[in-house]
Amino acid sequence: MAKRKAAPKEDLGRSEAPAKAPDDSVYIGQSVKPEFIYLRLANRHGLITGATGTGKTVTLQGLAEGFSDQGVPVFCADVKGDLSGVAEEGEPKSWIEARAKEIGYKVEYRAYPVIFWDLFGKDGLPVRTSVDEMGPLLLSRLMDLSEAQEGVLNIAFKIAKDEKLPKLVSLKNLQTLLEGLAARANKLTTKYGNITKASVGSIQRSLLVLEQQGGSHFFGEPPLKIRDMMCTGRDGRGYINVLASEKLMESPRLYATFLLFLLSELFEELEELGDPDKPELVFFFDEAHLLFKDAPKALLEKVEQVVRLIRSKGVGVYFVTQNPLDIPDTVSRQLGNRVQHALRAFTPAEQKAVKSAAQTFRRNPKIDTEQAIMQLGIGEALVSTLDEKGQPSVVQLTLVRPPNSRVGTITESERGKVIADSPVKYPAKPSDSEADQARLQEWADGAAEAKAASADEKAATRTSSGGGSRSDSFWTTLGKTLIKTGVPLATRVLTDALKGRNRRGGGGFGGLGALDTGGGASAKSSDNSKTETSAGDKYVPFKSINVVERGILGGRKRQ
Ligand SMILES: Nc1ncnc2c1ncn2[C@@H]1O[C@H](COP(=O)(O)OP(=O)(O)OP(=O)(O)O)[C@@H](O)[C@H]1O
Ligand SMILES: [Mg+2]
Repeated sequence: MAKRKAAPKEDLGRSEAPAKAPDDSVYIGQSVKPEFIYLRLANRHGLITGATGTGKTVTLQGLAEGFSDQGVPVFCADVKGDLSGVAEEGEPKSWIEARAKEIGYKVEYRAYPVIFWDLFGKDGLPVRTSVDEMGPLLLSRLMDLSEAQEGVLNIAFKIAKDEKLPKLVSLKNLQTLLEGLAARANKLTTKYGNITKASVGSIQRSLLVLEQQGGSHFFGEPPLKIRDMMCTGRDGRGYINVLASEKLMESPRLYATFLLFLLSELFEELEELGDPDKPELVFFFDEAHLLFKDAPKALLEKVEQVVRLIRSKGVGVYFVTQNPLDIPDTVSRQLGNRVQHALRAFTPAEQKAVKSAAQTFRRNPKIDTEQAIMQLGIGEALVSTLDEKGQPSVVQLTLVRPPNSRVGTITESERGKVIADSPVKYPAKPSDSEADQARLQEWADGAAEAKAASADEKAATRTSSGGGSRSDSFWTTLGKTLIKTGVPLATRVLTDALKGRNRRGGGGFGGLGALDTGGGASAKSSDNSKTETSAGDKYVPFKSINVVERGILGGRKRQ
């Protein structure tokens, strides 16, 4: 009997596709073939989207497990408390067994190595940093400051540096600095630009709000060492870092800014790797719309750049959100690996989201992508990942695999045990130096006294504060620092800009495009050209940072 031959053209990759996911990949689920993400392309970022209840968290959990199994540490935020189960062995459930059978997947019920983290230090190891590390840009975002207030906060940091004040660690340190600033507002205005008591006062009030939101828990010492989120266990599996975020989500801005801070820490700490065989860390950014919602343009630009450049440091960022339109185009274009769960399309806005989600996929003539997005069942998704050439694969209807670990929450005692077994340790209570606080207070009080004498000083200050010699010294210091440290300029400039640090000479964004060596060879790189701040031609001075240092580095080009 003659066998019917398969028509290769219609095959859409089925004939060349391996029967099972390759060893150097993370398995997502099954379409007409296995769907997976190549480890070496996992740093080309990704996107998981879908309406509520369509299976995003389960997909994320499966991917986190897959990366962990491959020795890749993972970071994810547990927004609803239902991701914590990854630390415990899974239990057979009818939907798990049914799906596994459907796709021929063997569930290996097991727990995964997990480190729980918690900004409030209750449901995990405390995540802490110093005010200085966070920097004025992210702090301004945390406190929702106006542009003018952000400018004043910048000046405060600059003054702390100029006056050689102690490191700013706690919110109390910052409050004291602001006290001193208010007391000598007039004098400092002459030197640094407009500082009004009113704007200092409103920053102080915002600081109180931040404290009430729990800010005093996470500004202190010892700071988080980001490498502690990159552990692998003795069995070679990567740790899954789960940030308890249920409470944190009550302050969405705090949540989003903190995750952005973690990304910027990674960006700063990690070395350039080019294109590694597998990622150093995979970072899932759940509820990603919070990062972009109402974010000022300058911050959005920084996020785009961090996402683009962090790739060559071996970090894959996977955004998780309900609506694909939540992610700005310039970021979305950089996301190579995509899992699209079902979307609803009742309202015109929802229909638009479906349409544009459909358009982001490489078309499969066998699938009406738009229709499919609306008709997908739970745990089903449209999947397109980067193929071995780094090109987006043809979109496929995929049944996502079930997790091996528990789906859902864990008990308090289970959590306690996991925390006690953490491979890294941090003290429960934050600390800051009393001596440093005393010095800051002294400076603030001194400022108050100086106020009385300031009438006499005013005239003298005016004549001596032209600023010319100061900015000369910025340039000199900049040159020396960069030469001495040898830290890649792109990294330093971007990190400083993101954190808004007033590192002398580090406020501009000019030459980044020219310095983007980290994987410019991507299939997507041409897409990015619009957003690149190429070699100074599109240098937009970042207002708040340039209050003091306007234009430094602007337009600099590296040969
Ligand atoms: N791959 C899958 N196979 C079979 N069933 C699934 C799959 N993924 C999810 N489900 C079912 O759907 C339920 C909800 O999934 P999940 O919690 O992942 O949705 P979600 O999109 O994260 O929802 P939300 O937006 O509310 O967080 C699961 O508890 C499970 O019963
Ligand atoms: Mg979910």
